[in-house]
Amino acid sequence: MESVFAGRPGVTDVPVRRLGPGDVRDCLLLAIDRQWLPEEAKWRLLFEVGEVYGIDDPAGGLAGTTVLTRYGSGLAAISMVLVASRHGRMGLGRRLMLHALQQAGDATVFLTATQYGRGLYEKLGFETVGTVATHIGHLVPEPEDYKLDGVRPAHEGDLEAVLALDARASGAPRTRLITRLFTFAEQTRVVERGGAMVGFGAAWRRVDHVVAGPVVGESTAVAQALIAELVTGAHGQVRLDIDTRHAELTAWAVARGLTMAFDTALMVHGGPLPGDLDHLFTPVSLALG
Ligand SMILES: CC(C)(COP(=O)(O)OP(=O)(O)OC[C@H]1O[C@@H](n2cnc3c(N)ncnc32)[C@H](O)[C@@H]1OP(=O)(O)O)[C@@H](O)C(=O)NCCC(=O)NCCS
Repeated sequence: MESVFAGRPGVTDVPVRRLGPGDVRDCLLLAIDRQWLPEEAKWRLLFEVGEVYGIDDPAGGLAGTTVLTRYGSGLAAISMVLVASRHGRMGLGRRLMLHALQQAGDATVFLTATQYGRGLYEKLGFETVGTVATHIGHLVPEPEDYKLDGVRPAHEGDLEAVLALDARASGAPRTRLITRLFTFAEQTRVVERGGAMVGFGAAWRRVDHVVAGPVVGESTAVAQALIAELVTGAHGQVRLDIDTRHAELTAWAVARGLTMAFDTALMVHGGPLPGDLDHLFTPVSLALG
């Protein structure tokens, strides 16, 4: 059956709607249509911390989605750029991206792109600034990974210091996201040295594995200690999204049992990216940075 959007040049007039939590089911159906996992918990988190936009399919359900997550006024992430396969290559992806960019205003916008989205993002002015390699497997730490002093579970009183540490690494205040992680995550850890916070990490469950992210720290040794603690006792496989700039952490993850599954391009619009990526070892997720 021909798409109702066929033959509408540019589809620039198709309405884009701000979605609400009542639309989660249709977002999941759209994800399944594109062979993405139906990650309900992740979508619900995105509805809490970001702005979810969609195009309604006149035949029912959603024809496309995208999510804009703002970190202060200067930085934002775009994610979940999805167009139903029956409406592909008709301009809806471009329409959604232009809407999200317009909403972002003057902010620097970043995203991680699969090979399917990269061409579209390049046409919209995004530049590739890095590569994120996703590693998955059964991570088995060695005794030496637990030897760093000052690692302990995070508690509410750490929030202010954790927010400051994260903001230095990510280059923007991620207050709502990081605060929410304190309850969303299965595990959180901080590293303290001489009364100062030098590391923070969280582990949360995706449908079929545990993600250690974000992992923020002053050194690779701190990142390794955080990850070892975060995934100890976790059931199932572990996933780490590691920027290829972190070669030492990547080698450690592989030595502890992970395998590279796929990679994505880190792309920026209105850049450069703020912050200190050398201290941001893994993102919360590819969708959130
Ligand atoms: C990627 C995706 C969102 C594109 O949506 P779409 O509605 O088909 O894209 P559009 O029709 O708006 O295309 C926009 C432009 O990108 C180009 N384009 C679209 N898909 C492309 C592809 N796979 N390879 C190269 N270029 C592509 C189009 O030619 C078009 O160029 P133009 O504006 O110069 O004509 C859609 O294919 C999709 O949902 N894929 C599965 C999920 C996914 O991978 N999302 C991206 C995650 S990073």
